[in-house]
Amino acid sequence: MLEKMFEEVKRVNEFSYSPYSKYRVSACLLTNDDKLISGVNVENASYGLTMCAERSTLFKAISTGYKPGDFNKIMIYTNRTDSMPYPCGACLQVISELMGLDKEIIVVNDNHEFEIHKVIEMLPYAFKKENL
Ligand code: THU
Repeated sequence: MLEKMFEEVKRVNEFSYSPYSKYRVSACLLTNDDKLISGVNVENASYGLTMCAERSTLFKAISTGYKPGDFNKIMIYTNRTDSMPYPCGACLQVISELMGLDKEIIVVNDNHEFEIHKVIEMLPYAFKKENL
């Protein structure tokens, strides 16, 4: 399944709208019903309005009817060879709520370098609804 996810993040990476940073990110979710849902970063001339690939993908999935907890893992890819596309803090917060702390985040770049981390490793002190 990781191979299929890799094909999908590579396929959609060209859809990244990133004329300002030129940093093309794509992400792919594996759902519990074995579907792949992918998305990209979408930038804006008003820079702060930019949406990261991870959140754009999760919001797309929720918008098509998936619920929090319906996701098995997420792969994040950049077509760079010199860095890994670690998710930003905002994306980790959203990933922690919609996927869960025990799920896997796979980061991969164009050198085919993979790292697999649990959400809890990357965001050990997540803010949770229980904190409200
Ligand atoms: N970006 C993502 O898509 N995901 C992240 O987790 C970090 C950053 C995007 C946002 C922006 O379009 C570009 O990378 C440079 O920050």
